[in-house]
Amino acid sequence: MLRKEQNDLLTRTGPDTPFGRMFRCYWIPALLAEELPENDCPPVRVKLLSERLIAFRDTDGHYGLMDEFCAHRGVSLWFGRNEECGLRCPYHGWKYDVTGQCVDMPNEPEQSAFAKKVKLQSYPLVERGGVLWTYMGPPESQPPLAEYEFAMVPPPQTYTSKRWQECNWLQAMEGGIDSSHVSFLHRGDINTDPLFKGSRGNQYNLGDLRPVFEVVESAGGLFIGARRNAENGQYYWRITQWVMPSFTIIPPRGNHSVHGHFWIPIDDENCWAWSFDYHPTRDLTDAELAAMRAGKGIHAKVDTNFRPIANKDNDYLMDRAAQKAGRTYSGIEGFALQDASIQESMGPIVDRTKETLVSTDSGIIMARQRLLRAIKGFVEQDVTPPGVALEHQRVRSAALVLPPDQPFKDAAREVLIAHPGVAPASV
Ligand code: FES
Ligand SMILES: [Fe+2]
Repeated sequence: MLRKEQNDLLTRTGPDTPFGRMFRCYWIPALLAEELPENDCPPVRVKLLSERLIAFRDTDGHYGLMDEFCAHRGVSLWFGRNEECGLRCPYHGWKYDVTGQCVDMPNEPEQSAFAKKVKLQSYPLVERGGVLWTYMGPPESQPPLAEYEFAMVPPPQTYTSKRWQECNWLQAMEGGIDSSHVSFLHRGDINTDPLFKGSRGNQYNLGDLRPVFEVVESAGGLFIGARRNAENGQYYWRITQWVMPSFTIIPPRGNHSVHGHFWIPIDDENCWAWSFDYHPTRDLTDAELAAMRAGKGIHAKVDTNFRPIANKDNDYLMDRAAQKAGRTYSGIEGFALQDASIQESMGPIVDRTKETLVSTDSGIIMARQRLLRAIKGFVEQDVTPPGVALEHQRVRSAALVLPPDQPFKDAAREVLIAHPGVAPASV
């Protein structure tokens, strides 16, 4: 449970809010690279952290991300002409380069140098791992580009998708570090989804509905250990990584690809659920890629605006017969929409003053505390928050069976670090 002012602090990320300023310390995913597929392609509207922006790719292949609206009289540059190394406003022809600099003002006298004085707010936009990343903080504090493993492995080993989720980023993210819901909400899919089925870990997951949580602080966030009973008195551990502000890696299953999320605020009542699947040591198979593109695993079938086809306007295509028969636990199909439906059902920003938290919520409780502490340090003493440093990002999740007397954080120390070319610890 949080006090109202704490809930406000954690859920508001506009430019002038404390968390908004801290969120702008990080490189965050802004678009899929495929949204800007070629030079001089149509520009794309992007809303991030409550700022309305326009992204484009110029004639030379440089990416730009800047204010959506023309400095002249506020026309949306989505209507612009992307030509000759700049985006030209269709109203009176003002033209901007990828840095937001106005480079042409064709309705002014030819000798006028006024264009030089006009510059739109702009942010860097850089491709890595099929994702276009941006950094929206002060230029003098810009850290090196993010190095999460999913974005660093060779392209055939990784796949990323995104979907629009109609609720605040924090309640979506809290679902990602809540290992306890998997045995309920997703129980119908664990043994049937092509990207999950067949691992020994699934049986432990379904066989023990009362995991014991052990949450330990990591340099960049938290290790969230969930312990379930395995055979011969041993324990099956699933260790989720949470790296601030909103990056998670779900523990792997068998030799399946490893997946996780980034939750990025669009505004305070909407977020992007980014979903990645990668394997540290092998290419993804054609069958895996086909399943991901078809919305299996943690991915979703979406329309051209990245809104899921099953959404709140059609009750997520609720299937009561499937719910009754136990094919799905909630009646909704697929992990992604199972998560989205229940998280959106809480309302755009859930009222955390009314919660009733229990022991299996300890990961969520500690993540909130860590965020609140980081905001305080950042606002009062300008402390760089956890998760900005590259070594905080070079982490992995793990699933392993351990003897009962071995603390997971000691036994799993090495496998929780991303070592290129080394297979993940998985059961
Ligand atoms: S509004 Fe853009 S050039 Fe006039
Ligand atoms: Fe889930």
